[in-house]
Amino acid sequence: MSAHASVKKAVIPAAGLGTRFLPATKAVPKEMLPIVDVPTIQLVIEEAVSAGITDVVVVNGRHKHAIEDHFDHAFELETTLRQRGKVALADELAKISTMVRLISVRQKAPLGLGHAVLCAREFIGDEPFAVLLGDDLIDNDRDPGIAQLARVAERSGAGAIAVMEVPPGQEHLYGIVSGERLADGRIRIRELVEKPAPGTAPSRLAVVGRYVLPPSVWGHLATTAPGAGGEIQLTDALRQVAAEPEGLFGVVLEGVRHDAGDRLGYLRANLAYALKRPELRAEVLAMLRQLMDAHGDAHGA
Ligand code: G1P
Repeated sequence: MSAHASVKKAVIPAAGLGTRFLPATKAVPKEMLPIVDVPTIQLVIEEAVSAGITDVVVVNGRHKHAIEDHFDHAFELETTLRQRGKVALADELAKISTMVRLISVRQKAPLGLGHAVLCAREFIGDEPFAVLLGDDLIDNDRDPGIAQLARVAERSGAGAIAVMEVPPGQEHLYGIVSGERLADGRIRIRELVEKPAPGTAPSRLAVVGRYVLPPSVWGHLATTAPGAGGEIQLTDALRQVAAEPEGLFGVVLEGVRHDAGDRLGYLRANLAYALKRPELRAEVLAMLRQLMDAHGDAHGA
């Protein structure tokens, strides 16, 4: 596991309306929807912590308290669990409340991802920082996704963003990058387009929700006009970072990516994480076989 010295702070935008998961997200932020029994945002923060990040700014819209409470002490709950002899569970809860220093800020209007990140500016200040989007889970226990980026950013003094090739026809769902591929695999990014119209994408390399950015991005975010979807887009500010001398690098992450912001992707993430749990694996597989038998297999019987 690689601890990274210079990237200590992260921003997690969590102000979306969660419309794709309504009604579940009517009173609960989508970042609190569980993957098996762990809220999505906890998995993302665990990734950040295992990369050496100590401070997280969560940018909230509605539902601010659920996330704050999750990372706070639950004194009564822990005490009750201990009294009932459930010590391991109480310890696990106590650990969640000490894993990170968490600050939460409000995004007062839904003006876009770029604007959400900008809301964290005064808490991050003049240092390179990470951005992690909760919709993207990057599963790599050995080398967390954000650590892979932090190494590249530290080495080059530039920004580094995670990219992955997406199947043809899906480019319009993402920020898409293009540029030169260097001998070490990094991509020196020359072009970035947010949600290109079908047939116009410059490549199939999509941005997948992990960024390590230089502080120069603040000035760009502050002057970025609304772009795709009428929103202030992080991708548009990144185009300015790419034009700086230090530039912006794309890094094809090692790990399995799950799009937990999509209903099917969310279900798949739940199954994949359940299959990683030794106490659940055999039963989940048996359950899947049973369901396949009951509903017909891939042949659509
Ligand atoms: C956001 C970014 C987009 C990126 C995507 C990854 O879009 O704006 O550039 O490719 O996350 O998940 P969203 O999915 O929030 O529409």
